[in-house]
Amino acid sequence: MRTRRLPLSKVYGLLEPGPVVLLTTSQRGRANVMTLSWHTMLEFEPPLVGVVVGAAHSVKALRATRECVLNIPTVELGAAVVGCGNTSGAQVDKFAAFGLTPAPASLVAAPLIDECWASLECRVVDTRGAKRYGLFVLEVVAARVDPRVKDPRTLHHRGWGRFMVAGESIRLTSKMR
Ligand SMILES: Cc1cc2nc3c(=O)[nH]c(=O)nc-3n(C[C@H](O)[C@H](O)[C@H](O)COP(=O)(O)O)c2cc1C
Repeated sequence: MRTRRLPLSKVYGLLEPGPVVLLTTSQRGRANVMTLSWHTMLEFEPPLVGVVVGAAHSVKALRATRECVLNIPTVELGAAVVGCGNTSGAQVDKFAAFGLTPAPASLVAAPLIDECWASLECRVVDTRGAKRYGLFVLEVVAARVDPRVKDPRTLHHRGWGRFMVAGESIRLTSKMR
C-alpha cells in the first residue's frame, strides 16, 4: 500500500473545508474577531453556512446578538489570522493588536474587516446543534467582495501552524452548479 495509517487526531487537517475566516461579533458596542476554519455550506439560496464555534468569548456574543460577519482574508493577513486565533477578545482588542480596520456592515452590528477581500453578513437561524457540537447555522443576508481580486490567495488550515494557500483556478466541464 502506498498509504499509511493516519492518527484520528489528524483527520480534520485533511477535510478542512474552505478558507480560514475571521468571524466578527459586536456585543454592547464592543467588536471582537476570532479565527475560524470549521465551517461548511449547507444551502445555496439563501446561503446557509454551518460554523463550529467553541471559543467561549465569541460564543457569548453570537448567542446574545445572533449576528456575525464572516470575513475572508488572503495570505497577506496570515499573521493577523494566527493572532486572532491565539488570543481572546476577553483580554485583547484584536483590531488594534493586529492592525485590522473595522468597517460598518449594512444589516448587522458586527463589523466588516476592511483588509479582507470578502465579507458575509450573517444572522444565526438555528442553534439546535450548539449545545452538542458548538454548531450554529448562519444565513448570509448580505455579501461584499473586492472585484479587483480575481484568484484570492486564501488560507486553508492544515493544523499546527500549517496552511495551504489557494490562488490558482482551473476550468473542467461539470454539470454541478
Ligand atoms: C487557524 C485557526 C483556526 C481556528 N478555527 C476555529 C474554529 O473553527 N472554531 C473555533 O471555535 N475556534 C477556532 N480557532 C480558535 C479560536 O480562534 C480561538 O479560540 C480564539 O482565541 C477565540 O477568540 P475569542 O476568545 O475572542 O472568542 C481557530 C484558531 C486558528 C489559529
